[in-house]
Amino acid sequence: MRLVSICAGLVGLLTHSTVSGAWYTVVQPLDTIWISAPDKSINASYLPFGATQTSVWVNDKYGYDNTTTYLDPPSRQVHFTMPSLRVTYTLLNDAVLKIEINATTDDETPILLSSHDWWNLDGYHSYDGQNSSILNHTFYTPDVTSYVATDGILIPTGELPSVDGTPLDFRTTRTIGSELDDTVDLCGTGCIGYDTCFVRGYNATESTVALELYSPASGIKLSVSSEQHAIQLYSCDGLDGSKPAKASQGGIDGVVYSQYSCAVLEMEGVIDAINNPEWGIDQVYGPDRPYTWSATYNFTIA
Ligand SMILES: *[C@@H]1O[C@H](CO)[C@@H](O)[C@H](O)[C@H]1NC(C)=O
Ligand SMILES: *[C@@H]1O[C@H](CO)[C@@H](O)[C@H](O)[C@H]1NC(C)=O
Ligand SMILES: *[C@@H]1O[C@H](CO)[C@@H](O)[C@H](O)[C@H]1NC(C)=O
Ligand SMILES: *[C@@H]1O[C@H](CO)[C@@H](O)[C@H](O)[C@H]1NC(C)=O
Ligand SMILES: *[C@@H]1O[C@H](CO)[C@@H](O)[C@H](O)[C@H]1NC(C)=O
Ligand SMILES: *[C@@H]1O[C@H](CO)[C@@H](O)[C@H](O)[C@H]1NC(C)=O
Ligand SMILES: *[C@@H]1O[C@H](CO)[C@@H](O)[C@H](O)[C@H]1NC(C)=O
Repeated sequence: MRLVSICAGLVGLLTHSTVSGAWYTVVQPLDTIWISAPDKSINASYLPFGATQTSVWVNDKYGYDNTTTYLDPPSRQVHFTMPSLRVTYTLLNDAVLKIEINATTDDETPILLSSHDWWNLDGYHSYDGQNSSILNHTFYTPDVTSYVATDGILIPTGELPSVDGTPLDFRTTRTIGSELDDTVDLCGTGCIGYDTCFVRGYNATESTVALELYSPASGIKLSVSSEQHAIQLYSCDGLDGSKPAKASQGGIDGVVYSQYSCAVLEMEGVIDAINNPEWGIDQVYGPDRPYTWSATYNFTIA
């Protein structure tokens, strides 16, 4: 097993990495670092500094390894001081990526961290001659029962309505695009799409499946397991096709980052619980209560 541990200092300053258990100092910080699982079923490239993306590569159903997904290093999301924060990426055989975030604090601190990873299971390759879209990806959230309601500028309103009978009910597998017409105003006034905190009925452990995302075009199915209480889905509503897809991110001529061409999936605590004590969710950590976060991304061909 190859293990890459990233010691995230403040403001995403990453100074050391481990590969195969050996510590070394990154002497050329802008060199891309490649890691892969021993069986080569999954590999990833990343820059040791937090300001850019990590890319994850897995085979598509044709056996080609030209399908990519991307995740921003969690370090980029850290904007505040913590005495100790460690983000660990592990690539395992059979195309499994595990991310762990462990943090300790020396005083009581509210903490809500996530990995801001965004996915296009076709890797911006055009399987049908069209610009790549995730609207035909299927989505499944077996234990999501409610969601954090938000106002016209996405500020939580303090309500946790049921997903029953709404376009947020993915307890039966269906495509992300299947009820898009009914999402008007859901991601802000006039916005169509998803930018929502889905709340899971809570008995989850690290190995409980939180969601499945699947593209029939590439045949790649991503299954995420996590103990985290909530899932943020952002369907890249704000992209507008003005930027060409980078070749290094799998883009081919003419393919652009169009609207709905990625799904951001963030395993997280329930947002705004800190302001709503009546929800009964304790998000304050301290010397006697270390913060832990884990998510396992399991890729299969279906
Ligand atoms: C990972 O896969 C990509 C895409 O095929 C390839 O370009 C790269 O060389 C691979 N890296 C490693 C370290 O296997
Ligand atoms: C993170 O903390 C959990 C719970 O203490 C522990 O099981 C896990 O091994 C830790 N992960 C790392 C990478 O240190
Ligand atoms: C993936 O790579 C193979 C080999 O280079 C190529 O034939 C195939 O068309 C590519 N698939 C896509 C969807 O771009
Ligand atoms: C992708 O979209 C761009 C901009 O709308 C367009 O120029 C291009 O032809 C499209 N490519 C395909 C393969 O549809
Ligand atoms: C979704 O799939 C259908 C059926 O294959 C196709 O007609 C449609 O163009 C696809 N839509 C997108 C946004 O890719
Ligand atoms: C959690 O598990 C308990 C005991 O099995 C059960 O009674 C409860 O309904 C479960 N809660 C949820 C939200 O699934
Ligand atoms: C990944 O998914 C496959 C197929 O569902 C399953 O057999 C395997 O145990 C899963 N692996 C992990 C690490 O969850």
